Amino acid sequence: VKENNMDNTKVFSKFKTKHVGLFKDIAVLSKGYYPSKFEEIPHRNREIEQFKALLGKAMRNNVPDNIFVYGKTGTGKTMLSRLITKQLSLEASEINIPVKSCYINCETVRSDTEVIKTLNRLILDDESSIKGGVSLTSHFNVFCRLINLFKGILIIIFDEVDKLKNPDLINVFSRIKENGYSEKNVCIIGITNDLNFVNNLNPRTKSSLAQSEIVFYPYDALQLGDILRFRAKQAFKEGIIGDAVIALCAAYSAQEHGDARKAMDILRVSGEIAESRGCNRVTDIHVKEARNRIERDKMTEVIGTLPMQTKFTLASCVIETMKTTKPVITGMVYLTYKELAKKAGIDVLTQRRVTDLISELDMLGVITAKSLSKGKYGRTRQISLNADPEVVVPLLEDSTYLSRYDWNLLNRTL
Ligand SMILES: Nc1ncnc2c1ncn2[C@@H]1O[C@H](COP(=O)(O)OP(=O)(O)OP(=O)(O)O)[C@@H](O)[C@H]1O
Ligand SMILES: [Mg+2]
Repeated sequence: VKENNMDNTKVFSKFKTKHVGLFKDIAVLSKGYYPSKFEEIPHRNREIEQFKALLGKAMRNNVPDNIFVYGKTGTGKTMLSRLITKQLSLEASEINIPVKSCYINCETVRSDTEVIKTLNRLILDDESSIKGGVSLTSHFNVFCRLINLFKGILIIIFDEVDKLKNPDLINVFSRIKENGYSEKNVCIIGITNDLNFVNNLNPRTKSSLAQSEIVFYPYDALQLGDILRFRAKQAFKEGIIGDAVIALCAAYSAQEHGDARKAMDILRVSGEIAESRGCNRVTDIHVKEARNRIERDKMTEVIGTLPMQTKFTLASCVIETMKTTKPVITGMVYLTYKELAKKAGIDVLTQRRVTDLISELDMLGVITAKSLSKGKYGRTRQISLNADPEVVVPLLEDSTYLSRYDWNLLNRTL
């Protein structure tokens, strides 16, 4: 029996654009796109100079000091670290100094064994020829053999280094010569946007990772405007994007914390919205919609996966912040939480547990919970919402445990 008698050539035809598109090359606004030339990277001159000064040693065949790179999300850390090491390899090879840089994203490669296996593969450029058993030691032995065979300078970039299961692994690499495993040091570039990470590191690891530091500061609205203008020229056809639209995208993302990735997202989504409406220009209205859509998508994703008790805690935060214009503190949220939990017939957690859940929500970026001076209130924090209640409420309402009934409580108090 012929199961599929569909005409396969027609399945996707409805996705064909019906009108002339606004984009010339939308890919330059997508996640993971990095400019390939320094001229296309405005407002990072100071950081570029710092990198050059530190890595320049390699041009005299000396292993550069380890570099610790930190700064908030979307400030260009990954982009610049990759581009500058690539450029170094290129220029060094012209004077016959092999410089190899191995990039590891610790978000995806987390365990000691995975890291070393990945490094071995990157050093060799060939998966198939790696021998070695299954143990960590055997992979490490292979690594030592490989770097001793490699007559050049090895740079290892640990991006999102805070995600490593065992951050002290860095020590193994940075003390590889000291411990007699190799004749030469390797250069480590560790990148993170978690500023607490370093403070919590073991002092030995901290001192080896932070031999030198480069801090990436957030962009202000004007700088984001310059970055966007550059990218918009490549992404859109001529006359589609006005300067006021760029300025608005920049202003929105500067409010967030100077995140260039966010700015790029808003610009791309604005263009997509304008295009889907058949408009021939992107306007302020599209930008505002784009911003709301991005916020909603982000919140939907985060809130959708929260465990039940955390949802109740968040609902209590929302209710409290909507009830009053005064600062909302943990104790107030807890009272509302108790009321909600009892009504819904779920376990009522202790204030201590709810305070922990508040911290989790803060880490997820749904709320901001600022610590107030300790003293007699203990761990009291001041809570504010990071998203529009109009976006958050329907998401909580949808969850099985919080029905209309509970939100009536909110209406009553408004
Ligand atoms: N000065 C700049 N000029 C051009 N594009 C930039 C600039 N700074 C950042 N970008 C762009 O912003 C996006 C985010 O940059 P990148 O991935 O390097 O951020 P990051 O600092 O590594 O953030 P995270 O901490 O979240 O990993 C990329 O698309 C990058 O191309
Ligand atoms: Mg990054």
